[in-house]
Amino acid sequence: MKLLITGCHGLVGTNIIPALSSHFDIVPLDIEEWDITDRNAGEYILLNHKPQFIINLAAMTDVDGCEDRQEMAQKINSDGPATVAELCKMFHIPLIHFSTDYVFDGEKAFPYTEEDMPHPMSVYGATKLSGERRIQEIHPLSIIIRAQWIYGHGGDNFISKVTRIAQETGAARVVNDQWGAPTYARDLAEPIRRLVETGKPGIYHIANSGSCSWYEFTKEIFSCLNIDVPLAPIPSSLLDRKAKRPRYAVFDCSKIQREIGVTMRTWQEALQEYIGNQ
Ligand SMILES: NC(=O)c1ccc[n+]([C@@H]2O[C@H](COP(=O)([O-])OP(=O)(O)OC[C@H]3O[C@@H](n4cnc5c(N)ncnc54)[C@H](OP(=O)(O)O)[C@@H]3O)[C@@H](O)[C@H]2O)c1
Repeated sequence: MKLLITGCHGLVGTNIIPALSSHFDIVPLDIEEWDITDRNAGEYILLNHKPQFIINLAAMTDVDGCEDRQEMAQKINSDGPATVAELCKMFHIPLIHFSTDYVFDGEKAFPYTEEDMPHPMSVYGATKLSGERRIQEIHPLSIIIRAQWIYGHGGDNFISKVTRIAQETGAARVVNDQWGAPTYARDLAEPIRRLVETGKPGIYHIANSGSCSWYEFTKEIFSCLNIDVPLAPIPSSLLDRKAKRPRYAVFDCSKIQREIGVTMRTWQEALQEYIGNQ
């Protein structure tokens, strides 16, 4: 099966494409080949490549930058996905689109299910939610994957940043009032493969299992890497970031278990493998 992937050079694309390549014929494209806000380019590409499935990873993911550039965020995170959905509908191509835990406000006390009412607190979250809704309206057979706290190989991520700070300054301060599930990007490949094969439309929450705060995640990273520096828990208010983040963004992932038979391993197991592969 021919799978076209947009935004392929990003964190998720870089990590899932090697695994998906052994099951599918992948057409990896990024903004240089297809800017998803360009409908004409999209039409030409789909006519040319004739994909049987599209995975849309293209997005504006600079969460604080979205607060400053709201129009751009709306264009890439909402208008772009709507254009992709229109083209998929026109060419009868099933679509998997990626969304985020930032569609929620994080005020819940237990894990978020796919039925919970979104209430984004940031421009990033609001534009991603708008993208989800427009896709569902235009091409109701689409699959929307909400993911969170992703790390992986290639480029900078939370793990590389926090270890660099620890090594350069001999200490680290990390927020202890935001909870989620760190997710190894490579672990997304298997549920994606199953969703492509089953084609069951709807929203799916996917993350490694368990949960922690960023501080607890950092403690585990330092323990795996034998980094022995003072680590201080701090409130997120001290970071003075432009975009508000959800306080509690843990997903209930029972739907993927039920619908496609995928159980995600714990975030600690995934982290160990990631560190072992570095
Ligand atoms: N990373 C996370 O923790 C996380 C968590 C939850 C959900 N997600 C979602 O997962 C998806 C993939 O995330 P990611 O972490 O892989 O993001 P990423 O690393 O920022 O990659 C996104 C890719 O899309 C490209 N892009 C930007 N605008 C585009 C456009 N108009 N047309 C085509 N390509 C464009 C980017 O190019 P440039 O780099 O040149 O801009 C980049 O290569 C996104 O939908 C994101 O919202 C990510």
